[in-house]
Amino acid sequence: MTAILPDHFLWGASTAGHQVDGGDTAADTTFLESVSPSVFKEPAGDACRSWERWADDLDLIKGMGLNSYRFSVEWARIEPEEGNVDQDALDHYDRMVDGCLERGIDPAITLCHFTIPSWFAAKGGWLNHDAPAMFADECVRVLDRIGDRVALAVTFNEPDLPRILDNGSLPQEAVDLQRACINAATKKAGVKQYRSGNVVIPEEVTQLEFGFIRAHRAAVQAVRSVRPELPVGLSLAVIDESYRTEEGKKLAMAKRRSCYGPWAQAVQGDDFVGVQNYEREIFGDDGPVPAQPGEEVNETGTALHPESLVNAVNYIHHLTGLPVVVTEHGVSTQDDELRCRFLKASIPPLIELVRDGVPVLGYFHWSLLDNYEWISAFDVHFGLCSVDREHGTFDRTPKKSAGVYRDIVANTVI
Ligand code: BGC
Repeated sequence: MTAILPDHFLWGASTAGHQVDGGDTAADTTFLESVSPSVFKEPAGDACRSWERWADDLDLIKGMGLNSYRFSVEWARIEPEEGNVDQDALDHYDRMVDGCLERGIDPAITLCHFTIPSWFAAKGGWLNHDAPAMFADECVRVLDRIGDRVALAVTFNEPDLPRILDNGSLPQEAVDLQRACINAATKKAGVKQYRSGNVVIPEEVTQLEFGFIRAHRAAVQAVRSVRPELPVGLSLAVIDESYRTEEGKKLAMAKRRSCYGPWAQAVQGDDFVGVQNYEREIFGDDGPVPAQPGEEVNETGTALHPESLVNAVNYIHHLTGLPVVVTEHGVSTQDDELRCRFLKASIPPLIELVRDGVPVLGYFHWSLLDNYEWISAFDVHFGLCSVDREHGTFDRTPKKSAGVYRDIVANTVI
């Protein structure tokens, strides 16, 4: 049987378990947050307490008039110790899925959003030869429980990110810190190799990529073995590489070949490919050109180019030949007016692309909430809604941009 693609455009928002749930004690990232030195500025801790407040999150989605929610099902919650399946965790996701359906929201699940169980990392993570089979078991377990009610399954979130970061995106100090963090974790765990999917040492990028590709293929098969008609794919980080000189063109094209080339092959046979775009990179003779004076920038100083979304989608569709779902797109900023402008400038060209016949199945904004932003912890803000961590209430408040997004969705006929 072939996949049944959604018959309507999916309008949604995305989150990931470790970034919002809180109390994610059995995950590798939690372990890496605890070692010294750590790449993570502070531990995720309670994050946004979405493990308890997931119904509030679904109400926010519904309040924006969205029809889909992308969230991750955390393997570390379900199998906190090897071979020990926590039925309460499966019940939790079961309730969330029903909660979505009660509100007219299609659940879109991510089976691995960077984090893995710490026991799995202690066995070498994705470098372990048996990793694909172990992940396939987890996928079957999840799909057996909630697969009958979800609309899409994403196996891996941004498995191409290590390669992108290895292509000159990280300063040497950051690379050194990653290595020191992984070494500290290996020592603390007392194992041969403690390996994570999102803190990576450069000489292992190729081996990791290979592990991800094998595990992705095994996961697709596992998903289909339970629910053959469920659309399944993975999501790629896609930077809109462009250039302003001939030499820059060579650099941009070389980067594209290196970062996306392996994935163009790996996704063949999937039902869709997820595109996650946050930026455009413009290459000159000496590499990427920094933001120019007067350009609008995000919270980390990268220039904003609203057209990067449509360019990234078009590129990946033509590279892979597959339908695209925008599984993430957004902007980090404390200036919500900027987010409002960014949404208004980025989404209409995407809709034009759909009208031109490019198969784009949906758009998910990153993120529903201001959440735990990995190495930057809580210092970077992507949310359509803020979360009051300061007073410990964890109350959610939609920002003006949540209303702007709601209006775009309400007024767009596709
Ligand atoms: C990731 C998210 C992250 C977001 C913003 C993507 O790379 O999938 O987990 O929070 O970008 O940095």
